[in-house]
Amino acid sequence: MDNIITIDGPSASGKGSLTRSIADNLSFDVLDSGLLYRAYAYLYEKGVQTSEIASYIKNLSFQFNLNDVHVYDNKEEITTTLRSEKIAQVASTLSSIKETRKNLLEIQRSFYDGHGLVADGRDMGTVVFPKAKLKIFLTASSEVRAKRRHIELQNRGQEVNMRDLIEDIEERDLRDRTRTLSPLIPAEDSVVIDSSTMSLDEVLSFTKKLAKKEFDK
Ligand code: C5P
Repeated sequence: MDNIITIDGPSASGKGSLTRSIADNLSFDVLDSGLLYRAYAYLYEKGVQTSEIASYIKNLSFQFNLNDVHVYDNKEEITTTLRSEKIAQVASTLSSIKETRKNLLEIQRSFYDGHGLVADGRDMGTVVFPKAKLKIFLTASSEVRAKRRHIELQNRGQEVNMRDLIEDIEERDLRDRTRTLSPLIPAEDSVVIDSSTMSLDEVLSFTKKLAKKEFDK
């Protein structure tokens, strides 16, 4: 078993905040795999050849802290671009292609150096880190998730219509759930948490208890 906690689930289910809080609590590293898919989409849109995107991604700088992650392309900060719904849609379309997933697999695995990792995504527990010690599948209703994403985008200074947001989220979820490669499904040995009526603090303390049980063995 690897010293890894995987946190999979649909978009805006709160995976990012939970991942950073748990990682901070345990002094583990963080992998935000969705951000790698978004970086892949960003470079694809810039016209980089798909066979070269992986090496370009290695040259981006990812700076994690408790509240957020900042991404730089040379000196230019590209976090807001990567977090936009437009890039999310391109990432979701590209992520169903075999070559994309293959190109990103080793980069994702390279985030684990044996110490401890919290990995957030769609297939962390099923495909990328099947030997993870603790696997969480975090979900919430699409309305609750759209509201959370709305607040997140507003805080970044981006205005989006709620109805469009719910449609975007549902469209992306459907694509992620029904694709043939690495579909969004809970790993058989995962703990499923529906956070529709839970606060981040409640989800966090529940997950901390699970982690304590697994990692104190
Ligand atoms: O998590 P986030 O919303 O940033 O992910 C953007 C898109 O990247 C998702 O909609 C999904 O299509 C894709 N993705 C994926 N596998 C992952 C993480 C993200 O296919 N492990």
